[in-house]
Amino acid sequence: MWRVKSLDAILATAEKKSLHRSLGPIQLTLLGIGAVIGTGIFVLTATAAQKAGPGMMISFIIAGLVCAVAALCYSELASMVPVAGSAYTYSYAVMGEVVAWLVGWALILEYALGASAVAVGWSGHIVGFLDAVGIHIPHALTVGPKLSIGGFIQGGEVGGVVNLPAVVITAVVTALLILGTKESANFNALLVAVKVTALTLFVVLTLPIALGHGANFHPFTPRGWGNPLGSSGTGVLGAAASIFFAYVGFDAVSTAAEETKNPQRNVPIGLIASLLICTIFYLLVAGGVIGSFGAQPLIDPATGQPFADGSPALYASAACTSAHAPLVCSKEALAHVLREVGHPLAGYMVGLAATIALPSVVLLMMYGQTRIFFVMARDGLLPKGLSAVHAKFKTPWIITLITGVAVAIAAAFLPVGQLADYSNSGTLFAFAAVSLGVMILRLTDKSRPRPFRTPLLFVVAPLSIIGCVVLFLSLGKESKTVFYVWTAIGLVFYFAYGFWKSNVRLGLVEVPELAADAPPTGVAPMPGAPAPGSKEERS
Ligand code: ALA
Repeated sequence: MWRVKSLDAILATAEKKSLHRSLGPIQLTLLGIGAVIGTGIFVLTATAAQKAGPGMMISFIIAGLVCAVAALCYSELASMVPVAGSAYTYSYAVMGEVVAWLVGWALILEYALGASAVAVGWSGHIVGFLDAVGIHIPHALTVGPKLSIGGFIQGGEVGGVVNLPAVVITAVVTALLILGTKESANFNALLVAVKVTALTLFVVLTLPIALGHGANFHPFTPRGWGNPLGSSGTGVLGAAASIFFAYVGFDAVSTAAEETKNPQRNVPIGLIASLLICTIFYLLVAGGVIGSFGAQPLIDPATGQPFADGSPALYASAACTSAHAPLVCSKEALAHVLREVGHPLAGYMVGLAATIALPSVVLLMMYGQTRIFFVMARDGLLPKGLSAVHAKFKTPWIITLITGVAVAIAAAFLPVGQLADYSNSGTLFAFAAVSLGVMILRLTDKSRPRPFRTPLLFVVAPLSIIGCVVLFLSLGKESKTVFYVWTAIGLVFYFAYGFWKSNVRLGLVEVPELAADAPPTGVAPMPGAPAPGSKEERS
């Protein structure tokens, strides 16, 4: 189970593929921002408020810093092993099959449940927008049912049945992926502009109001700092563990390393610039939310304690059912704040911007998921039949369909905050594995060319691992339990199937990421760059 996939075999074939290096720092930064800004800021700001109050501003900084150090580690591996499959492939080449399997298995949480979370975030916005124009979808069809699985997965709302809009958007995205749709360069740039404009409008309208309401920042940390050794998942650290979701997606920049001009210089610029720009936006937005409208956690009058974030009791409370509900009740946080502080039109526009832009984040995450499944199946760790490529559309349609169904089921029944937290647990595991892998490779394979070298690796990588572990432990007990149970199921699967069927075990040297009929990677083509897999790119 510690067998590795030969890095030389991967690299030899990668060299043959030799992508055209066309991306510059601005294109990389745009790519990062396009993949990053999504449900995290537009929706989970409400979750962060319930967990930390105004202290969520520090949560945004902590999550951003953890991502920054992880991003630097990602870049070194991405520039050395420039093939699809990301953290899974890196781990296979460095730490062995069982670790790779566990990383791939954790990435299912990251990508599939992440896609579900964004689909639910989209649902909140489309429902709000349709409401505004006089079309009312029955409440029962807009949220999942009140549920409690084994006492630890809790969610939904009283009167909820199924989150139909989230299912619909997932079905549409699945169909687009099976048909082989990719975002065009200009469309991606347009969506970045839409999102950045919406956030800028929000900041410009709310910050002036915020300046006169310093009192809204007190108490700053009403739920304390949080305790990674505890189980509540609240406080500044608990909110950081949740809001971490707002930064996920920047790995799109590191996986584009092989298409980058002068990657040694441009990859870190792209990663750090996109993270920095997002962090600054997020802090300004959070400041605007807190100052203009207030972001204190909602207290349950029955117990005198804050409600659990996203719980049925929270949504059923008198405050949340009142006409002017507090931030923590909203499923379209930023749009809600604008409407409540006297900018209803801007509120609808920001809601519309999220409605337009979020499906592309769902698409990118589902793309990533199908790509990793594809590589795992071709490696023999999942049944090979799953990787079948559609004769006409040239896409891995079986895997895409299975992914779509799984994403839709999770989105139909679970609330956005829980989905994001489960997704984060998998992402944090993968980030930590990559950070460990990059150090191991520096020690075991010193002379291999590294187009990008992580600066101060033996400081940066341990910081990244510590950050990931602290954030993981700061998640609520429920999310941690979901991760442990998921990992245990993964190990059973591995020893029942992949361990025996693995290509590496059977002596087959294949690099499925580079097969001629492999579907394109999940990185959206950028302005000026040829589409992945296109003739220009291969030439
Ligand atoms: N960072 C992405 C979002 O917030 C996943 O939607």
